[in-house]
Amino acid sequence: MRTLVAYVSQTGNTKKVADAIYSELTGEKTLCELSELDDLEGYELCFIGFPIIAFGPNPDAKAFLEAHCSDKRIALFITHAAPEDQDDVPEWLNKCRAAVEGAELVGMFDCQGELSETIAGFLLKSDNPMLRSFGERRGATLGQLDESRLERARAFAREITEKA
Ligand SMILES: Cc1cc2nc3c(=O)[nH]c(=O)nc-3n(C[C@H](O)[C@H](O)[C@H](O)COP(=O)(O)O)c2cc1C
Repeated sequence: MRTLVAYVSQTGNTKKVADAIYSELTGEKTLCELSELDDLEGYELCFIGFPIIAFGPNPDAKAFLEAHCSDKRIALFITHAAPEDQDDVPEWLNKCRAAVEGAELVGMFDCQGELSETIAGFLLKSDNPMLRSFGERRGATLGQLDESRLERARAFAREITEKA
């Protein structure tokens, strides 16, 4: 089986999850940035990862998926600065799910990642009070993604490939 792991990652969190997933795969496999791909042709299983940006999927990943994921077998992996149990995370994940409508969605993984100093500074200047409040909570994200999250990502990869 030919498996793809492709990601969008500005500050490295989603890339860490991509590397963890990739390390668990056996058989023919490819790891790359989503921007390097024209489409998803030739892969039987595609792990696609991106961060949450302004309460929904990263816009580049969303546009790519809406254009190319139809009838493909997709597993999503997503990082965000909010803790996994924050009340509005399920709503953001639903927006990610909507971006792959038409695909066979075989699984979804999400976890908290560290909010970089640069991004926190950027969010603190936002007009949106919720984004500003994320900027203020950088301290609570320090040290993420930790090993427990990476192990969850590896377990996710094993579970999806066994299913596939
Ligand atoms: C413009 C912008 C908006 C963001 N909006 C959110 C958000 O709505 N919710 C959230 O939890 N994190 C938000 N984040 C934080 C990122 O999702 C988080 O830091 C993610 O792990 C970054 O992934 P990366 O390191 O792979 O780029 C935002 C980041 C940026 C740059």
